[in-house]
Amino acid sequence: MNKNLRKAIIAGNWKMNKTRPEAKELIEAIKPLAANAGCEVVVCVPFTNLETAVEAVKGTNIHVGAQNCHFEKSGAFTGEISADMLKEVGVEYVVLGHSERRQYFGETDETVNKRLKAALAAELKPIVCIGELLWERECGITEEVLGKQCKLDFYGLTADEMKKCVIAYEPVWAIGTGKTATADQAEEACAYIRSVIAKMFDSATADAVTVQYGGSMNAKNAAELLSKVNVDGGLIGGASLKAPDFGEIIKAASV
Ligand code: 13P
Repeated sequence: MNKNLRKAIIAGNWKMNKTRPEAKELIEAIKPLAANAGCEVVVCVPFTNLETAVEAVKGTNIHVGAQNCHFEKSGAFTGEISADMLKEVGVEYVVLGHSERRQYFGETDETVNKRLKAALAAELKPIVCIGELLWERECGITEEVLGKQCKLDFYGLTADEMKKCVIAYEPVWAIGTGKTATADQAEEACAYIRSVIAKMFDSATADAVTVQYGGSMNAKNAAELLSKVNVDGGLIGGASLKAPDFGEIIKAASV
């Protein structure tokens, strides 16, 4: 990461894990490990844990995120949660367009773009996930896929709005598979994403935007991934559920 230009963000995506007592226990265990962090630390927890998490992080440097929000303010959208509802609970971040939502719940670039605009309007900090499938990488179209996702997901934003977004580069083939992108692959993709943002907006915006890597990041490989100049942190699934491992990743991002 380039610490002169950007602050690293280490965010845990807990996915559909942890009851409320378990969430409290995990946050209590993360607290001392995050106390001297030289990066932003975020935990993105299930909806039912948001209040518990917001309460638990009070007075600490840990921030709370949700894992999705709907694009309408209110209405007949059974099972959905609005950006304003998250804001009201004290949530700061929201993950949008995760590949699991695209794969299992019909999320498209169009709905990600709408959710993103709703999140920004509610003054939430969006973490927008993009990334190629294995066969797209094998076909040699990784850049086309990332370029298309950036253009569609960030369509219609002002440069100021873009600067408030975090982009998570998550190659779908590396998620939950134990197959991490090499540090060079992560750097190449994150640098390419930044070049697309520079073309869509301007180079100052591209320099300011945080581009994380996500996909089997763990205590062992984090330092090497984070040593790359365009990798500004991580969105971590499995390893964020174990405090010591998450603590090691925070440490790696703090040097
Ligand atoms: P894993 O770290 O479990 O591969 O998950 C990555 C991810 O999907 C984070 O959003």
